[in-house]
Amino acid sequence: MELLKNHRSIRSYLKTEIGNDVLNEILECGIRASNTGNMQLCSVIVTKDQAKRKLLAPFHFNQPMVVNAPVLLTVCIDINRFYKWCSVNNTQADFQNLLWLLNGCVDASIFAQNICIAAENHGLGICYLGTTLYNAAEIAEVLKLPAGVVPITALTMGYPESVPELTDRLPFQSVVHYEEYSDFSDSEIVEFYKEKESLGASQKFVSENAKENLAQVYTEVRYKKQDSDFFSKKLIEFLTVQGFRLE
Ligand SMILES: Cc1cc2nc3c(=O)[nH]c(=O)nc-3n(C[C@H](O)[C@H](O)[C@H](O)COP(=O)(O)O)c2cc1C
Repeated sequence: MELLKNHRSIRSYLKTEIGNDVLNEILECGIRASNTGNMQLCSVIVTKDQAKRKLLAPFHFNQPMVVNAPVLLTVCIDINRFYKWCSVNNTQADFQNLLWLLNGCVDASIFAQNICIAAENHGLGICYLGTTLYNAAEIAEVLKLPAGVVPITALTMGYPESVPELTDRLPFQSVVHYEEYSDFSDSEIVEFYKEKESLGASQKFVSENAKENLAQVYTEVRYKKQDSDFFSKKLIEFLTVQGFRLE
């Protein structure tokens, strides 16, 4: 419980390598995760090679930890392996639609999070890289991912150089609903986001970007509609190339 309650993303790492035994045990913990129908519709590509990580870095918008962490893990939805098993057994799966894309996404996410917890239990730090979905096609090319395999997230992993402060979370009551969803009034929303908005880091974001409030920083600076439309279209094109149908 203490481990989970103390999670923070680590973005700067010592140069210390992660031993193979430790890394393998961590990956085994990912493999042990619950998954859809025990078909394990996910895979991970372990990248230690610095040259390979330098190739991948621009696709993660040059976030420094891609090169500075000793290990980069790219977590993928993978229906390729299951398809091949069906094929050698004279049958065929039809997993290329939205339902199975999402099932694979759930499997890969749980797999990734088990890896994170196991890594933290070994005193390692991790950081997810959401940039994986933004440049999935380019990342897939570098990692030679076949049809049916889609990178959905990546993790940098290594021994922390320093441990940052815990980040904020929304109040418990704003996240947990009992028996049915109780929708929010405007005044409840204002109340629930008050603490986040009052943080020094949030106020700095607002003033640096010359916005009126934190929500505007999210929608008009960090996650703009124009960027979101562009990367979403690019992702749909890549999913189609990988054989998925969004239906
Ligand atoms: C799916 C996902 C994508 C993320 N992408 C990035 C990223 O590209 N770069 C980064 O520095 N942090 C990334 N993060 C880390 C979040 O920013 C972080 O988890 C959040 O701010 C809460 O902070 P904490 O993990 O330290 O508690 C990502 C986290 C998740 C779950």
